[in-house]
Amino acid sequence: MNYLDRSIPSVSSRIIPVQPFDYVVFGATGDLTKRKLIPALFHRFLDGQFDEQSHIIGVSRTKLTDAEFQQAVRDSITNFVEESYQDPAKIDRFVSVCSYVSNDVNDPAHWADLSGKLRDDPKIVRAFYLAIAPDLFGPTCEYISKQGYYRRDARVVIEKPLGHDLQSSIEINNEVSRIFQEDQVYRIDHYLGKETVQNLLALRFANILFEPIWNSAHIDHVQITVAESVGAGTRGYYDESGALRDMVQNHMAQLLCLVAMEPPASDDANALRDEKLKVLRSLKPIQGADVAKVTVRGQYRGGSVDGQAVVGYQDELPADKKGSKTETFVALKAEVENWRWAGAPFYFRTGKRMASRASEIVIQFRNIPHSIFDHAEGAPRPNRLIIRIQPDEGVKLFLMIKDPGPGGMRLREVPLNLSFAATFQDRTPEAYERLLLDVIRGSQTLFMRRDELEAAWMWVDPIRAAWANMQDVPQAYAAGTWGPSGAVALIERDGRTWHEDDN
Ligand code: BG6
Repeated sequence: MNYLDRSIPSVSSRIIPVQPFDYVVFGATGDLTKRKLIPALFHRFLDGQFDEQSHIIGVSRTKLTDAEFQQAVRDSITNFVEESYQDPAKIDRFVSVCSYVSNDVNDPAHWADLSGKLRDDPKIVRAFYLAIAPDLFGPTCEYISKQGYYRRDARVVIEKPLGHDLQSSIEINNEVSRIFQEDQVYRIDHYLGKETVQNLLALRFANILFEPIWNSAHIDHVQITVAESVGAGTRGYYDESGALRDMVQNHMAQLLCLVAMEPPASDDANALRDEKLKVLRSLKPIQGADVAKVTVRGQYRGGSVDGQAVVGYQDELPADKKGSKTETFVALKAEVENWRWAGAPFYFRTGKRMASRASEIVIQFRNIPHSIFDHAEGAPRPNRLIIRIQPDEGVKLFLMIKDPGPGGMRLREVPLNLSFAATFQDRTPEAYERLLLDVIRGSQTLFMRRDELEAAWMWVDPIRAAWANMQDVPQAYAAGTWGPSGAVALIERDGRTWHEDDN
């Protein structure tokens, strides 16, 4: 089924270098920088997308020399970049563009001087990445402005948690917007940088096939699953957040937007974001008594994941958090109230410590209106389109065919299977690789606009408020399963089932 292999050129032959830049990374000694940002920038450097004309300037409170920071950059590459890409000569070259400044944004008396590092040349793109807690966004923007590092064409990158509700999100955005204008702000939702998520746009808007049937007349419902096998109890921030804020408000709402939105006139950032915003504003509010009907929250207990025994969420928490009602799982039924989607709900399911790491979007089409085949031949099953986000990225379209061979007409369901790994030999770039350089390109298409973010909070806040007023606790589920029984009941009440078999 794979006709393409040898004809597809490698990624590196299609690389277009970006303009030289000064990337200032605040929070340079933090986890995000170590695990994601440095490895992502290194991969882009390896592919020749930028060279020594660009500089990466780490900023953090810790006192480090340039040499010590460069060693930290090497460690990050050793620990988080696949060994086959660890070319020592390239690492030396990459490290040579990295330097460091120690700074405490909360102490204006000792604000560090970046002027020796930042170049004044307007052809050198200036970007500030705030890989720091949101309460430091305001002081950091002020530091940038008061020290004279702001330029009208500079960019600032921020990422979640962009608030814990609508009000706090407004406050965070207000702080940033005191200095930077909306077209300078890049709000990361790293799901938008994932290859398969971008592929949703290509699939929907670069093919004629799907659009005429992309509506509730032909689609019965959509399932969006983001399952993780990792636990959450040892992640400091998680207990304050929970799955609704951590995954649903952002990643899953964004996936829904890409599936549900109307075709934009172009892939211009605002054209696309206008359409996503309309979807968010069309979401039926889930509030009051409806919350108990269409949402399910769960919390994992001990169990077994990948053959390993694991403890429950409560057992991972520090003593002062025991008894937490934080949800590590959410399932809900979302409804987009417009002509295209009326009658075709979107079911969400996300959780930690689930049976496996598997994220996918299932478009479940309706049944054919009339079958010409008799029972013995097998009932035609409705078509399904499965967009596999990770792992094993790919697209599958389940079709009915005649079972090959003699013996008369028998129907059988088979997938047309496009596996990215089998079709394209190149590695799949990490989301941050795309996003970090889109900032330099000045492309906001894959970043969230402020009004989108706020519309998503408006939808999620009443759910959280209703949960807080409920006496019940999240339903228990054993680690290593697909969530609590309530999640199964949620979809089965509508005569539907979660997609699980992946044949
Ligand atoms: C983050 C969440 O945004 O996304 C984490 O805060 C989650 O809880 C992570 O584990 C999942 O990202 P990915 O790319 O591994 O699917």
